[in-house]
Formats: sequence, structure tokens, C-alpha cells
Amino acid sequence: MSNKPPVLLTRRIPSAAFARLEAACDVDLHDGSAPLAPDELKRRVAGKQAMICLLTDRIDGAVIDAGLPDLKIVANVAVGYDNIDVPAVKSRGVLVTNTPDVLTEATAELTWGLILTLARRIAEGDRLIRRGGWRGWALDFMLGMELRGKQLGIIGRGRIGRAVAAKAAAFGMTAVFAKHDMSLDELFVSSDVISIHTPATPETRHLIDRRTLARMKRSALLVNTARGAIVDEDALVWALQERLIAGAALDVFDKEPAVHPGLLPLENVVLAPHLGSATRETRTAMADLAVQNVLAVLSGHPPLTAV
Ligand code: DGY
Repeated sequence: MSNKPPVLLTRRIPSAAFARLEAACDVDLHDGSAPLAPDELKRRVAGKQAMICLLTDRIDGAVIDAGLPDLKIVANVAVGYDNIDVPAVKSRGVLVTNTPDVLTEATAELTWGLILTLARRIAEGDRLIRRGGWRGWALDFMLGMELRGKQLGIIGRGRIGRAVAAKAAAFGMTAVFAKHDMSLDELFVSSDVISIHTPATPETRHLIDRRTLARMKRSALLVNTARGAIVDEDALVWALQERLIAGAALDVFDKEPAVHPGLLPLENVVLAPHLGSATRETRTAMADLAVQNVLAVLSGHPPLTAV
């Protein structure tokens, strides 16, 4: 029997971080491509001192109860932690950590990729060429929106929102923050591009709804790289069909990996499969930070990035 502390790892992580964890802990790895089913998660967490999980794992009080009295820490490999019932976990004396900072730039880069793709119709043009629909250059062909001189309205003034804003000047855009430079309502009315960078909480659920979409400019573009629950997808489909806004680029969805069927036929929608932090560098750093949090707590130290 190993005398290393037992740890549940709910999905394979990059090899350097895995090796570091395995050197210090007895790792129970779920190596499947789908998340552990709730009952299986409860069965496997029993007797573990730590759990490293992903945003696809639902961690509630019942899961924690199955891990008590041994479980000390739940380390989420994500900055967002809406998959975890944090009050329920903490009330049972278990720590929660996330992975801030290390994914800020990757997510900001993806946001700009989506803004450019949407404004300049890159994905739409790619689809057109692939289906053999390009008939040649024309002066009025596939005209998009120029970013220079436009207003970028940012909802959420955390690390990622600020990193997105920091790149706006490079494209000649003016970045404004809701509740800082102007009210949320003013931002909806006056922005050319609106980008969401706020956590999913009960307060932000369906922040973008029929009412707010109807307030936006008809030429406005909506970008969401935060969490799907912030946008009412039925309302978004309605606004796009009614041409109340000009387009949307989404990296996150309410019921991932399901995508609202109304979005699929729309040419003025760019869809990405939750790639915000998906660079080799960032995913390695995220896994490494989760492992560091576990190793710190299991050796009696405070975690590096507690929620
Ligand atoms: C996060 O860390 O919350 C991101 O959504 C992962 O890509």
C-alpha cells in the first residue's frame, strides 16, 4: 500500500503536471473522454484527500459528503467555478481553488479572434469557398464592419475583460466598461461590439435577454467567451432572426456541448467549442496551478489561488 495521499483526478492533464502530481500522490485517474457520472464520481472520491476536477464535473454537497472526512481540497482546472456549489463545499470545511491569471491572455486572444472573425465575416467566407460558392472579387462582396473608430463595450472588469480592453487600441477601438465608464444600459445602447467577461452567477444569468438585445444597435456584434448561461439563447436566436443585432460570436453555450439549434443555420453567427483557454501553454499552466494548489494543501500550506 502506498503511503502517498490519495487524490482523484477526474480527467487526464498535461504530462508534466501529471508527473508532478504522481510523484507526490497516489493518483486515481479517470482516463475516459466523458465526465464521470455523478454516482461514479461519489464512489471514486471516497477516501481521497484531494480532487482535481474540470468545469464539466458537477461538484455539489453530495459529492463532498462522499469524500468526507478525508477530502481537504477541490481544485478546479478553470478560472470559472460555476460547476461547483462553493458554499456547499466550503460549509463542509473543504477548500476550493481555481486557476486565475494563467489563462487571461489566451482567453483575450480568442476574444479578439472572434471579434475579427465576426466583423470581417471570415468563417462565413471560409464556408462559402468550401461549398464552391465563390464567384470572384467584387467591390460590394461580403462587406463587413471596420473596427477602427468603433466602441467596444465590455461587461466585466476582471482580468480577462481588462486584457481584452488593453488590445482595443491596436485596432483603433475605444474600450468602455459597464458600471465603470457608463451604465450597463448606456453600454448596450452605444456599443458597436459588446463582449462579455463576467462570471456566471444567479445575478448574471440571462443578463443578455430580449430586453437588452432590443436595446442594442442594429449593427452591433455580441461576443461571449465567459459562460453560456449569461445569454438567453432563445432570445439571441430571436434577435438575430429579427435582425435586431448584426451578429454574434459564441465560445460558450448554456448546455454544452449542445448548441441551440436556432443558431446553426445563421451565417452571421460564429461558433467555437469553448476554446478560450485552449492553448498548449495555457492548459499546461492551468493543470500545473491546480496541482500546485493540491500539493500545497496536502503539505499543510495555504492554497495559492483559493476561491
Ligand atoms: C475557464 O477556465 O473558466 C475557462 O472557461 C476554461 O476554458
